[in-house]
Amino acid sequence: MNQAPEAILLVGGKGTRLRPLTVRTPKPMVPAAGVPFLTHQLARARAAGVEHIVLATSYLAEVFEPYFGDGSALGLHIEYVTEREPLGTGGAIRNVASRLRSGPDDPVLVFNGDILTGLDIPALVDTHRSCDADVSLHLTRVDDPRAFGLVPTDDTGRVTAFLEKPQTPEEIVTDQINAGAYVFRRSVIDTIPAGRPVSVERETFPGLLDDGAHLQGMVDSTYWLDLGTPHAFVRGSADLVLGRAPSPAVPGRRGDRLVLPTARVAPGAKLTGGTVVAEGAVVAEDARIDGSAVLAGAVVEAGAVISGSLVGEGARIGARTVLSGVVVGDGAVVGEDNELRDGARVWCDAVLPAGSVRFSSDQ
Ligand code: GTP
Repeated sequence: MNQAPEAILLVGGKGTRLRPLTVRTPKPMVPAAGVPFLTHQLARARAAGVEHIVLATSYLAEVFEPYFGDGSALGLHIEYVTEREPLGTGGAIRNVASRLRSGPDDPVLVFNGDILTGLDIPALVDTHRSCDADVSLHLTRVDDPRAFGLVPTDDTGRVTAFLEKPQTPEEIVTDQINAGAYVFRRSVIDTIPAGRPVSVERETFPGLLDDGAHLQGMVDSTYWLDLGTPHAFVRGSADLVLGRAPSPAVPGRRGDRLVLPTARVAPGAKLTGGTVVAEGAVVAEDARIDGSAVLAGAVVEAGAVISGSLVGEGARIGARTVLSGVVVGDGAVVGEDNELRDGARVWCDAVLPAGSVRFSSDQ
């Protein structure tokens, strides 16, 4: 068997779609199923045989190394490279090239830092090797491709085009999209321009195709979720807890709920649908929490009803308050008898007095 390649993880994005979760924490460090999301990706890469990983950091770069150190706790050797100015996805890949140990023809894995997937990583590397491709891409199929760039392939799997988000039904020529995991021939990384922002999706891949390079697609229709939005992030965390999404790094048994050791949950509280209650968090009597994440040190008071929502670190949710599809930022306080729904975002440290917002009558 061939040795697994080294990997680059792109973790420098600002995560604007996830704000306020990403105001104080970079997206890959927001906890999912009890640990920073990145832990799941690192553990999956390690399980696929990867040993050397370079983290390409930019936004809030300083928080990664204190947490993961040299990577030895995960059986990895992790290096960190921080961009002075954000270089985009392609620029970030080029910027870490000096840390790679691979030879010019060796495969190098590249992962977006916000994708939760059961991708068969060794199969992607095998496809790359057997096709002798310049770059191989994991493609996934989606029901509604309108929000994505499309990647059609020929009947051998070779990429034929990169199409921007389709506007009309005629433009939807495939349901295959770029799933955010690649294998690069090492020498191709060295051809990306250095020292300026480059988008791998919009510039590098289409440019390589124009130059006649061999880009190979591998459709793998296993679990796949882009955790870029609050709704998707909460879904991904719950799927990890439920065991629908694979990860060797979930700190406990898969099931309806995950309560970390120092959390306190009252006997009459009901936790379902892959809810996680993190370290030091408190859930009071008769609270009902479904498919949600309650982060470290947060407090959910008696009778609160929470579904599909994320309660940030140290936040407080008042008695009888209803949250459905809501993100509550770190340190925020939602007083008792509020009702928030459908994409509401409460900013970090905001204070919502008791009974101040409802989506229905209080009677
Ligand atoms: P949004 O602002 O919400 O779109 O999120 P994002 O900033 O993470 O952008 P996007 O989801 O398109 O990024 C895809 C992946 O590339 C993520 O893992 C990002 O962390 C990473 N990324 C995006 N831009 C940069 C960059 O300039 N430098 C580095 N190192 N990584 C980046």
